[in-house]
Amino acid sequence: MKVGIDQISFYTPGYYYPLESLACDHGIDPNKYLIGVGQENMSVPSPDEDIVTMAANAAENIMTDELRNSITMVLLATESGVDRSKSAGVFVHGLLGLNSECRVVEFKQACYSGTAALQLACDSIRVRPNEKILVIASDIAKYDQKSSAEVTQGAGAVAMLITQNPRIAEIHKERGFFTADVMDFFRPNHSKTGVVDVKLSLDAYMNALKASWKTYGNSGGKSLKDFPYVCFHQPFTKMAEKALRVLKEVAGEEADHLSKESISDSLIHTKNIGNTYTASLYIGLSSLLDNNKTDMSGIDIGLYSYGSGSVAEFFSATIVGGYKSSLSTKAHNNIFDNRIELTQAQYQDFYYNPPSDALENQVFPSFSKGTYRLEKIEGFKRCYAKTNETLSLLTDFPSNTYDENEIKNAA
Ligand code: HMG
Repeated sequence: MKVGIDQISFYTPGYYYPLESLACDHGIDPNKYLIGVGQENMSVPSPDEDIVTMAANAAENIMTDELRNSITMVLLATESGVDRSKSAGVFVHGLLGLNSECRVVEFKQACYSGTAALQLACDSIRVRPNEKILVIASDIAKYDQKSSAEVTQGAGAVAMLITQNPRIAEIHKERGFFTADVMDFFRPNHSKTGVVDVKLSLDAYMNALKASWKTYGNSGGKSLKDFPYVCFHQPFTKMAEKALRVLKEVAGEEADHLSKESISDSLIHTKNIGNTYTASLYIGLSSLLDNNKTDMSGIDIGLYSYGSGSVAEFFSATIVGGYKSSLSTKAHNNIFDNRIELTQAQYQDFYYNPPSDALENQVFPSFSKGTYRLEKIEGFKRCYAKTNETLSLLTDFPSNTYDENEIKNAA
C-alpha cells in the first residue's frame, strides 16, 4: 500500500522585515545576511498571530466539508506551544470545525517533531488504511534582539493531509534515526527566545546528518544516486548548502551528480520566510514542488530532518504522477505577493513588544492577514476568532511603541 502526503499547504504571516534593513540596524555589511547566511526576508507574526492561528490558516486552505467530517487524527508539532496542558491542535480542531470522532495530540522535539508526526501518521495509515490524518507543524523562531541568530528568525506553519494512495508524495518505510543528548539549542520554560550555542548547533546538525544517513542505508534505504534532489532542514539556507557538502563528502561518488541546483528550488521559500523550526523541512519540500519547473512525477527525493537537543532522521519519498494539480502553489504565491514590508519600529513592536499573552485579560489589535486570529485572552483563556477587518499599519499603528489603551480601543 502507498502511504504519504495527499495535500500540503503552508501559511506564513502577511508581514516581513527585509534583512538588508536588519543588517543596517546591526551596523554590518548586508551581504553577510544575504550571501553569508543566505536569507533575504524574515516573516513577522502580527500580535494577534500564534502557532494556533498559523496552523489553522495553513490547514484552512486544503479543507473541504468532506474532509472536515472525515479527519480521524490531528497531530500538531511545535516548539512554540501556547499551553503546558492543552494541545494547540484542539484549538485548531475547533477552529476548523472538524468531526468530534477524532484524536488530537501535540508533539515536541525541537524542529524534528514535524517528522515524528508525519511518520507516525504514515504508520497509522499502514495499520488503518481508511484513516485521514492531518499533520501540522507550526512555529515562531525567536531569538534575543541583536543576537547573531536574530537574522534567522521567521514564522510559519505547514499542514499535510496523510492518506493511502496519496496524490503528492509517497513516503517510504526506510528511515535512519539518530539521537544524542546535546544542549546546542533550547528554550527554557520561562523564555520566549531560544538559547543557542552556535558552533555546537552547527556541529550537532552535521554529526546527526552523517549518522542518520548511515542508519538510513542500514535500514535498506536507497542510494544517493537515486535522488536528483535532497531537502534538508533549513534553519537558514546556507545551512542546507553546507549540509549538501557534508553529505557529498560522506557519500563519495554516489553523490557526484548532486550540485547546488539539487537543493536551490527547495530554498526559495525559506529565504523569504526564515526559520520555521518544525515546519522548515516541509516548507522546503513545498518550495521544491512549487518552484521546480520540470515534471518531477516518479522521482525519488531524500529528506533530512534535524531537531536540536538532538534527534534527526533521514528518509525518502517518491513524487506521485500528476502531483502538480494537487499543489497549493497559487495560494502560496498569493501570500508572498500580498505581504507588507514593516519599518524598523513596526518590526520591533511586532516581534519584541507585542501585548503580553501572560495576562489574565488582554485584547489583541486586528492585524493578521489570515482567516483566523487570536482575538483576546479572557480569564487566562485564549479566544480565537475569524478575522473580519484588519487595521491599517499606516493609520492605526503609526507609533513605534504599543500603548495598551490604544490597542484596546483599536480592537
Ligand atoms: P555568525 O557567527 O553570526 O556568522 O553565525 P559567521 O561569522 O559564521 O558568518 C556567517 C557566514 O557569512 C560565513 O560564511 C561568513 O564567511 C559569511 P560560511 O563560513 O558559513 O560559509 N560572511 C559574509 N559573506 C558575504 N559578505 C560578507 C560576509 N561576512 C560574513 N560581508 C548563524 C551565523 C546563522 C549561524 C547564527 O546567526 C546563528 O546563531 N543561528 C542560529 C543557530 C542555528 O540556526 N543553527 C543551525 C543548526 S541547529 C538547527 O538547525 C536547529 C534549529 O532549527 C532549532 C531547532 O531544532 O529547534 C536552530
